[in-house]
Amino acid sequence: MEEKKTMLSGIKPSGDLTLGSYLGPLHHWPKMIEEYDCYYFMADLHAITVRQNPADLRRRTVEQLAQYIACGLNPDKCTIFVQSHVHQHAELGWVLNCYAMFGELSRMTQFKDKSAKNADNINGGLFTYPSLMAADILLYQPDLVPVGEDQKQHVELARNIVQRFNGVYGDVFKMPEPYIPKVGARIMSLTNPAAKMSKSDNGDTGRVTLMDDPNVIMKQFKRAITDSDTERCVRYDPENKPGVANLMQIYASATGKTFDEIEREFDGLGYGRFKPAVGEAVVEMLRPIQDETKRILADRAYLESVYRAGAEKASRAAERTLRRVYKKIGFVAR
Ligand code: TRP
Repeated sequence: MEEKKTMLSGIKPSGDLTLGSYLGPLHHWPKMIEEYDCYYFMADLHAITVRQNPADLRRRTVEQLAQYIACGLNPDKCTIFVQSHVHQHAELGWVLNCYAMFGELSRMTQFKDKSAKNADNINGGLFTYPSLMAADILLYQPDLVPVGEDQKQHVELARNIVQRFNGVYGDVFKMPEPYIPKVGARIMSLTNPAAKMSKSDNGDTGRVTLMDDPNVIMKQFKRAITDSDTERCVRYDPENKPGVANLMQIYASATGKTFDEIEREFDGLGYGRFKPAVGEAVVEMLRPIQDETKRILADRAYLESVYRAGAEKASRAAERTLRRVYKKIGFVAR
């Protein structure tokens, strides 16, 4: 029997999951399950690089798990776990810190962005975030790491670490490939189409979360920025009409229609008809996910059994890699 390839990805529970989280990673993940041996996790260790309210962090971590399942991740067919439950992440993270260079870490655009946004809390964890992320990845020896465009630089850094580490110690880590899904990969803020729809930016009025009420969703879409040209027609032109392009992207993902079909559907109708139509399509797309999330969240025993089993399975795989690493670098076996 041919062995399945391995795939891994995670999301920080640093904010409520948004429409961007769904159309970006989440709705691609279930499709990978049949083909790959998949590991999906809630990156809570990463979340604390920015100050979190403890009660919110706990709630979001569990809610995120329920949402993973509601979006189609069957826990019997993949491994879903909480990052902090698998202690090997923090351990390998430390080791890899010693194989990541100061200069390299200094060049990370996410570090620069987040330092600018959290000027009163530029902590060491924010700086060494990519070494921990490299550990998340390399522990499971994955072939593929699906990430958003903004995380590609971190995967590149993980690849540099693999080269450096394997160069000294032989073939310890498998070289991971970043995988950036094309369609719907990057949903932008509804009020600022130049910025990604973020789950953690406080006061971002341009986002829709997965659990928003239908009337909130409709309001957000009616307020969405379109563009300032005088043409006022629905046409796919990301360069000159980024707001409209973003809405078209969302509508296309929610309905399965092509950009051509959408242009024809709204020909001569203007934005006044287009924006609420996008809102309605999103409400319909999210309705079953919201219902299922609420149903799963009500069953705490089930959720606990999922994350316990996930941590056990992940731990076994992670431990194999960590043992090898410890041995190679010269730690005494206990
Ligand atoms: N850094 C990722 C993000 O902010 C989350 C993440 C942490 C991750 N570890 C990972 C993604 C490992 C892929 C693989 O979105």
